[in-house]
Amino acid sequence: MDTSKTSNTVFTNHVAEEIDATVSSLSPSGVFVLVDRNTEDTVLPRMQMLSKAIASATPISIAPGDDNKTVDALTHVWKQLSDNHATRSSVLINLGGGMVTDLGSFAASTFKRGIPFINVPTTLLAAVDASVGGKTGINFNGLKNEVGTFSDARKVIISTMFFNTLSMTQLRSGYAEMLKHGLIDSGQTFNTLLAYHVEQQDTDRLLTLLKDSVAVKQAIVDQDPREAGLRRALNLGHTVAHAFESVAIERKSPIPHGYAVAYGLVVAAVLSHMKFDFPSTELHKLSDYVRSNYGAFAITCDEYPHLLDIMSHDKKNLYPDTFNFTLLRAPGDVATDTLVTPAEITAALDIYRDLLGLA
Ligand code: GLY
Repeated sequence: MDTSKTSNTVFTNHVAEEIDATVSSLSPSGVFVLVDRNTEDTVLPRMQMLSKAIASATPISIAPGDDNKTVDALTHVWKQLSDNHATRSSVLINLGGGMVTDLGSFAASTFKRGIPFINVPTTLLAAVDASVGGKTGINFNGLKNEVGTFSDARKVIISTMFFNTLSMTQLRSGYAEMLKHGLIDSGQTFNTLLAYHVEQQDTDRLLTLLKDSVAVKQAIVDQDPREAGLRRALNLGHTVAHAFESVAIERKSPIPHGYAVAYGLVVAAVLSHMKFDFPSTELHKLSDYVRSNYGAFAITCDEYPHLLDIMSHDKKNLYPDTFNFTLLRAPGDVATDTLVTPAEITAALDIYRDLLGLA
C-alpha cells in the first residue's frame, strides 16, 4: 500500500513507523494508549512489538461495545491519565474501533482542557467515519453521542493491516457508511461502490474505495467542521438508523451500526423519492444491494408510533416535535434540513418493508 495523505489522515502499511514519527514530532511528556478488551488482546501485543511509542506507552483499557461508551468509562480514562501524571503535553493514542476513538478523543479533548491524541482505527467503520472529522463523544441518558466535543486528532493513521481479522459483518457494517458517502458524492461514486461486495475480499480494491470515501467525508468536514449546515449531509440515513438501533437494543438483540445505516439509507431514499423525485432506478439499486448484503431489520406497523417517538428526540431535529431529515434529490445532490411529516415517515416505512421483503 502506498502512503498517501488526506488532510491529517494518513493511509499506510507502515503503521508503527507512522505512529512513532507522529509521537516523536510531539515530544510528549508521556504516552498513553487506549484500547478496549478486544484490541488489548488482539492488536496491542502486536503493536507493542512493532512500535517504540506503543511499547513505552501506559495502556488504558475499557470494556468494548457501544453500550460501554459511557460516563463511567470516560472517568476511568481521565482517572488513569491523572493517576499516571499525564500533563498537557502527554499524548493519547486511541487504538480500536469507533467506540475507542470516540471516547478516547473525548477524554483527550477535555483532560486538562485538551491534550493531543492520535486515532488508529482498527475497524473499517472507524476508518471511514468515526475516527475522521473531529467529532468526539459518549452516549448519555439513553441517547447516542449526546455529549461530546469537536476536536481534531493530530493524526488519523489508517492501515488495512487491521482489517484482516474483521468478520464479514464488521466489514459490511463499515461499508454501509461508504455507501452513504457514495450517495452524497455522485451517481458514479455510488455505482462504483455497488459493484463491490465485501465477500470479494479484494484488499487493494477496498483500499482504493476507502481512500475515496474518506476524501468525500474530509471535503465536507473541511468546509463545515462544526456542522453549521453542509456537514448535515453526513447524517443521511442516520435518523432512522438510530431509531432502529434503539429498538434493537430494547429487544436485547443489538444490530451493528452500519447495518442500521444501510436500512436507514433505504428509508431516506424512499422519502427522497416521495419528496424530491429521487430516481426510482437508484432507489431500487440501493434497496436490492441492501436486501442481498444486509437482509432487513424487521419492524411491524404496530411499532411505528414508538419509532416516530424515538425519531422525534433525535438531536438532529432543529425544533421539538419536528422531523428533520437529510435527503437527496439525486445521488450527489443533497437536501439537508428537510422537514418530513409523521405520515410521510409512516408511508416510507411501509415501502421499506416492501422493498426489503418484510411486508
Ligand atoms: N458521522 C457523521 C459526521 O462525522 O459528521
